[in-house]
Parts: sequence; structure tokens; C-alpha cells
Amino acid sequence: MAEFTLKIRRYSPESGEGPYWESFETELPGHRSVLEGILQVKDRQDGSLAIRCSCRAAICGSCGVKVNGKPMLACNTHLEWAQSNSKDGEITVEPMGNMPVLKDLIVDMDAVHWKKIQRITPWLLPDGEPPEREYVVPHESMVDVTQSMACIQCGACVSDCLSMEVDPLFIGPAALAKAYRFVGDPRDGQHEERLRDLAEDPHGIYDCTHCFFCIEACPKGVAPMSQIMRLRRLAGSDYEIDDRNNGHRHEQAFVDNIRKHGLLHEADLLPDSYGGKLHPRTVPELVDSLPVITRALLRRKVTPQNALLHPHKASEEVKRIFEKVEGRPERLEFNLYVSGTEDDPDAPGPEDEQGPHDSGAGADGQAQQAGSGPQKKRS
Ligand code: FES
Repeated sequence: MAEFTLKIRRYSPESGEGPYWESFETELPGHRSVLEGILQVKDRQDGSLAIRCSCRAAICGSCGVKVNGKPMLACNTHLEWAQSNSKDGEITVEPMGNMPVLKDLIVDMDAVHWKKIQRITPWLLPDGEPPEREYVVPHESMVDVTQSMACIQCGACVSDCLSMEVDPLFIGPAALAKAYRFVGDPRDGQHEERLRDLAEDPHGIYDCTHCFFCIEACPKGVAPMSQIMRLRRLAGSDYEIDDRNNGHRHEQAFVDNIRKHGLLHEADLLPDSYGGKLHPRTVPELVDSLPVITRALLRRKVTPQNALLHPHKASEEVKRIFEKVEGRPERLEFNLYVSGTEDDPDAPGPEDEQGPHDSGAGADGQAQQAGSGPQKKRS
């Protein structure tokens, strides 16, 4: 047995008071979970403490909270790990971010998370008559969507999404990862319509800013940002959707910019994103950006000389990288979620990494059921 201090963010809307911190002592073996610590507090010290939980085995996704400032499943986070990763020995527990708090550690998932999931039409939309018997889906197609299917809807990625902090209407990492589950499924007959919808929406796939926080936060290895990037590649490259948000052209401008300069040349980026310096679409955008450009000049982040004449040219190494990538006959992507080989039952998986938990319902367990072996695919 060891003693742990849980510093819990409390909030009760009926009291009329704002949120506050309250510390509780718990006594439990260090390998027990933060959820068990909270439930012990609730049982022995304060029955009014509110937390949502069900399976206690990292399956149902209901116990998402922030532990020491990071979103996690409370049932999948060991007390001793949380204590050793705290600032001053006190384990802080607070409700997840980007969602309104209902009481103590319970957030309103309906108001944000589930609303966004509904937005992406979260069911298959097959074309034509259903087959007489079951649909037969190629093995590799299902492996491709396994990663997004592993989501348990805990909302950890939503909690940490920086884009959603800035734009609460952003469809968000969980819902977009779910969207890939249908876009990658050969039984769905609306791939292009789905992609067009998500690309044209100003709060859709191009609203993600690649902060990687959702990848770090996800307890199941879903890597929502990677699913968003797959949706983008499918929309922009495979279906050639020229979205009105200019998202695909902006991405292309980055690639061309690096191809030419080796280092990003910001002054070219905006005009190139809108079709070049002389394109009619560029002029209003440049006028709109004048305050930003002026600030950058005044703060000497950029000089007029650098802005007009980028001194850098792409090196031979950069050129070789482009040649190698573009010389491939097809785009290959590795499904990093599925690890090991069929002949190698002991192959390491994501659960072997050291983290807040080291046992139980790891994402890899589900992946191995769906099919193992290093998977590469074209998406
Ligand atoms: Fe089900 Fe934690 S209680 S995931």
C-alpha cells in the first residue's frame, strides 16, 4: 500500500460558485488505477464527487479525464506512474478540455463530441442492392480501417485539439478519424461525396494544423491526425477535389515551395496558394494580409530583401528526396497500428511501450484479431 494525493478539480453548477481544487489522500497499491483512487475517495470521503465510468478496463471510453494536465483514461493510468509524472507529487485530475463541464469530472460529450460524430454520417452508405449473402471485403481493406475502428470514443483527442480551441466548429480529430473508417471501407458507395463534403466544409479536413496532440492523447493508437491526412490525400490527389477553402492548393504550395527553396519561403507561400502572384484571387488575399506582413516587417521577422529574393535554393539532397518519392510507381503507406508478422506471435506491439498503463485492453489486441503482419497499402 502507498499513499497518493489526488488534487481534483471540483465544480457544482447548483452551488453558484466557480470551479476549485480539492485534495484527497488515498491508500492503494501503486499499480491500481487513478480511477480506483477516485472511486475510493467517492466511497470513503465525499460521495458527491462525480466521475463517469463503466468498464474499468479501457474499453468503454467513459472515464476520460486530464491527469497532470494530459487527457487519459483514468482506469488505464496507474497511480504510481501518475505520481512520478506529477510536478510536486500530487496527482492532478480535472475534466477534459474543449467540452463544457457538467459536474466535477464529467463533461458534456453530447454537446461537442457526439454532435461532431453525427456530422460525418457515421454509418455505411452502400450503393445498389445488398448482396444475397454477406459482403465479402478484402482482408487488406479491413486492415486499412482497423486503426480508425479501434476508437472507443473517449474524447481524449477532442480534449487536446488545438484547432478546436481556436475554432470550436472544427469537425475535430475523433469525428474525422471515424470518417476515414467509412471512406476506407469498400462497402461504402459514397466515398467521393463524403470527401467532397469534408473538404468543402471550412471546418473540415483542412482545418487541422498538424499539432500532433491528438496522436499523443489517444489511448488506443488511432492516430486521428494520420487519418485526417489520409482523407486529405484521397480528396486532393486521388479524387482531385479542388476545394473552395483552398486547402489542397495551399498544401501543394508548401510542397512546391520546399522543392524550389529547400526551406520555406513565406513570401511565396500565400501567392502560390492562390495560383501565383498575378492571379486575380491573390490580390484580395494579399490586401487582407497586409497587417500581418507589416507587423512581420516591423518586428524584423522578415526583411524586404528576404521577402522579395529568397536566398536559399533547394540542395541536391532535397531534390533527391523529391525524385525518390515521386519516382515510386504508387503511393505506399504503412499501417503502423498493425505490427509484427503472421509467423511471429511475439512481435512487439504498441502495448509494449512504457506508458501510464502496461496491461489490459491494448489497442494491439484488437489489431491482431483483425489481421496481423506489417501492412502497407495504397490509399
Ligand atoms: Fe471504461 Fe475507463 S471505465 S474506459
